[in-house]
Amino acid sequence: MATTPPPEHLREEVESVLIGEKEIAARVRELAADIERDFIEQDLLVVALLTGTVPFLADLIRNITLPLRLDFMGVSSYGNNTAPGELVFTKELKLEARNRDVLLVDDILDTGKTLRAVIDKLDALQPRSLRTCVMLEKKSRRSEKITADYVGFDVPDTFVVGYGLDYAEKYRNLPFIGELKPEVYS
Ligand code: IMP
Ligand code: MG
Repeated sequence: MATTPPPEHLREEVESVLIGEKEIAARVRELAADIERDFIEQDLLVVALLTGTVPFLADLIRNITLPLRLDFMGVSSYGNNTAPGELVFTKELKLEARNRDVLLVDDILDTGKTLRAVIDKLDALQPRSLRTCVMLEKKSRRSEKITADYVGFDVPDTFVVGYGLDYAEKYRNLPFIGELKPEVYS
C-alpha cells in the first residue's frame, strides 16, 4: 500500500495516509456495482452499524440505484480504546427484517467478534438472505470464522482512523483513511 504524508495540521497524530479520498471513492463505486448486480429484484434492507459506517454508508448507498430501505443497529464494545471489550447493543432495528434481503454494513472487520454477534442477532429475525459488506478488513487478526461478502480494502495490522473510524471517538471526519501514530494510543 503506497502511503503519502497527512495534511500539515494532522502530522503530530497521523503517521500517513493509507487510502486517499479518490481511491476510496473509486472503490466504493465498484462495491456499489457489485451489490447492485447481486441484489437485483431483491427486497434490499441495508442494516448499518453505528457509528463508524456513516461516511462510507452515505457514499455507498448514493451509488446504489436499486430501491432499498435503510436502518441502523447500535453496537459498542466497552474496552479500552484500541482493544475490544464486551459488546453492548445500544440501538435495535426499527424496520422488519423478516423475509428481507439484508445487507449488513460495518466499518472494519477485525477479530470478527462484532459481526459474529450482529449476524447471530439478525439471523434470529429470519431474513430471506444475509450478506455483509465492510469498508476494511484486517485479515491477520481474525479469531471468529467470519468472511465478508464485499470488502473495500485490506489493511495491515495497524490502528487506522478516518472516514468513519475513530480513536476515542475522534478522527471520524477525516476524508481519508490514515494510520494513527502509536504514541497517540500507547
Ligand atoms: P472486531 O469485533 O474485532 O471485528 O472489531 C470491529 C470493530 O473494532 C470495528 O467496528 C471498529 O469499531 C473497531 N476497530 C477495529 N480495528 C480498528 C482500527 O484500526 N481503527 C478503528 N477502529 C477499529
Ligand atoms: Mg469503533
